[in-house]
Amino acid sequence: MNHQSDAVLTFKLYSCFQKIILVFLPGMLIVQTAIAQDNTAYHNGMVVCATPEASKVGLDILKKGGNAVDAAVTVQFALEVTHPEAGNIGGGGFMVYRANTGNTNTLDFREKAPARATTNMYLDSAGNVIPDMSISTHQASGVPGSVDGMVEAHNKYGSLKWASLVQPAIDLARNGFKISAKLASALNHNRGQFIKLNEGKNYLLKDGDWKEGDLLVQEDLAKTLELIRDNGRDGFYKGKVADELIAEMNKGNGLIAQTDLDNYHSVWRKALTGTYKGYKIIAMPPPSSGGIALLQLLHSVEPYSLKRMGHNADSTIRLMTEAERRVYADRSKYLGDPDFFKVPVDSLLNPAYIDSRMKSFSWSAATPSTSIEPGKFVGYESDQTTHYSIVDKQGNAVSITTTLNDSFGSKIFVSGAGFLLNNEMDDFSSKPGVPNMYGVTGGKANSIQPNKRMLSSMTPTIVEKNGKLFMVVGTPGGSTIITSVFQTILNVIEFNMDMQQAVSAKRIHHQWLPDDVETEREALDSTTINALQQKGYKVVSRGTIGRVDAILVTTDGYQGGADPRGDDTALGF
Ligand code: DON
Repeated sequence: MNHQSDAVLTFKLYSCFQKIILVFLPGMLIVQTAIAQDNTAYHNGMVVCATPEASKVGLDILKKGGNAVDAAVTVQFALEVTHPEAGNIGGGGFMVYRANTGNTNTLDFREKAPARATTNMYLDSAGNVIPDMSISTHQASGVPGSVDGMVEAHNKYGSLKWASLVQPAIDLARNGFKISAKLASALNHNRGQFIKLNEGKNYLLKDGDWKEGDLLVQEDLAKTLELIRDNGRDGFYKGKVADELIAEMNKGNGLIAQTDLDNYHSVWRKALTGTYKGYKIIAMPPPSSGGIALLQLLHSVEPYSLKRMGHNADSTIRLMTEAERRVYADRSKYLGDPDFFKVPVDSLLNPAYIDSRMKSFSWSAATPSTSIEPGKFVGYESDQTTHYSIVDKQGNAVSITTTLNDSFGSKIFVSGAGFLLNNEMDDFSSKPGVPNMYGVTGGKANSIQPNKRMLSSMTPTIVEKNGKLFMVVGTPGGSTIITSVFQTILNVIEFNMDMQQAVSAKRIHHQWLPDDVETEREALDSTTINALQQKGYKVVSRGTIGRVDAILVTTDGYQGGADPRGDDTALGF
């Protein structure tokens, strides 16, 4: 952990010392992850996001008197430059906002299916899903929403001039920045796909391998960002950039047309709210499944004392897993774009309904996922991402998760414009019951329809305590987003971790199907794994889960949690 002169915290991979403390309580094994403490708190503002460069330019905006939304606009564009895996202007996202007055709002700048999209567009003549068609083709892209989203957010809440908020990204693109070891490795890893899917040279390719410290200069992107700086929405959805995007589509039978760009508009939606043990949870409504699922999960575990059971103890994992399999089963049937499908929000969040779902939970054995179906409602008709958290001096808070979907999206560049296109269409259900790239299934609620938004798991969230701002939290990670946010909130509220500990702690995940408890390496010790296996749980070890970036408001000030799984950085002043 580096401490820099202007009170900057930079958390780098492996920089946090972690040790596992085993605490034996009568009849119960509690495994706690203790992480080197850094509780430095700041009073004037904080930005936590995926790269140190973007955190820095975001913090600069706060220091100049900009508010949290101003800083968010700067961070969004700076991540496009410095975190090309997920930072984007060619993708979309969601913002959850809480003003210091307590007023809340959410902005849906999720991509939409192009008007020419059709329900069976990824199926062959035999009705089978064509592999990769929704992932790495020109037809994988939804109509991008990020630029419109930033313009909308700024028009409503911004205080500094738009041009001054876009300029830092232009400077980063034109002057270049030194890439991290992780970005170098990601670029090298994707080199083959970049060559296969794009013509000629492009800005993310170089002769030979990328190395840590290489300067990445993106002149085409700088020019695109200048048009956005000077013309706002029209700089992207009309003129040169739009023409280049349509020309790119035409190279590969892509579906996005100028009318799709003209018709794209982000939508303000009323925040979804719920409570957990007296805390108020402010979350994203559909077309994200994240808010509903998070509130269902929290309600499912609320009757139990997780604190007493212990962090990542087998009893805690069993309880969370059983809640998760039931909630993800509901997700598969009932969640989709509310503008196209009547999502039964009230029924799904009805406490009696959630309690009834948990009735079949038993401490004696795992409930097989094959015996769990989505819930039934009487009278109901029937269906690489990045997160940043920002708080300003006044206490206004922004929680934004934004994505191209896969790492580097479709891996297809808009030639001449210097940015990548999303492959968000894969978040639709191409065919009922057939899993997408995150292994989640869906049906009618999330089928492809022209102009419809694909279902998301993104869960930007804000938590209040006693009517005051308490936590700003979110993460990438596809279908694991919801469970990562769930665990981070529990880590603080139940397991008394500080923000950094809560973010660094090892995670687990279950999503109904496949019927596996997925665990990060070293999340569980062998005793816990054995205990779970004895009760019928299949435990599967996997790579990292999520990259949570979060802020906690403590009596000392804002405390950051930047995920050591990435280059994520918390900066405060
Ligand atoms: O919206 C969603 O749920 C996905 N497109 C998110 C993708 C994601 O988190 C990838 N990052 N690791």
